[in-house]
Amino acid sequence: MATTDTYTLTDFIADLDRITREESAAHRITARTAPLLARLVRDPSSIAARYLASPPGRRGRYMLHRAPTFNVTSVVWRPGDRATAHNHETWGVIGVIDNEIEETRYRVSPAGNGRASLEITSVTRHRSGAVSCLVPGDEIHAMHNPTARDTVEIHVYGRDLAGLARRRWDEDGTEKPLVSDKYLNC
Ligand SMILES: [Fe+2]
Repeated sequence: MATTDTYTLTDFIADLDRITREESAAHRITARTAPLLARLVRDPSSIAARYLASPPGRRGRYMLHRAPTFNVTSVVWRPGDRATAHNHETWGVIGVIDNEIEETRYRVSPAGNGRASLEITSVTRHRSGAVSCLVPGDEIHAMHNPTARDTVEIHVYGRDLAGLARRRWDEDGTEKPLVSDKYLNC
């Protein structure tokens, strides 16, 4: 933990290195990471501005740090951008730096024939400074930027999502494979 008022990305990475050495349970890792990420997103001045902006014509998605036990990325949702219900296959902690995001959580039950029944368990508007945790058993969500300007977030995951075989669901419950692209900076 940094001893000064300034809490930088370097401080955060050092804390995550320690937490992911000391803990193996996802709920413990996310519980300890959440207040630190809340602190980081309050003052993201240590993160290069180019990683906090959307490139022309697409959502921003940048790798800020890769470690064996976690990774830190930035994500920039443009006005109207959305991700339908999807899973993550790992723990996650998401913090909002700027603007706001609407997160819908789901309970998903197999319904046969490549379909599932999706029950909405919560809909939350996360505003600047808010943090949301994904843990096994509650890690399926949809995201939407309903506002007229970019929303900037920091995501921390226990695994690299690029190339990871995940699942997503249409609103009618049709299940589809999901594989995320490479990051824009690597
Ligand atoms: Fe997600």
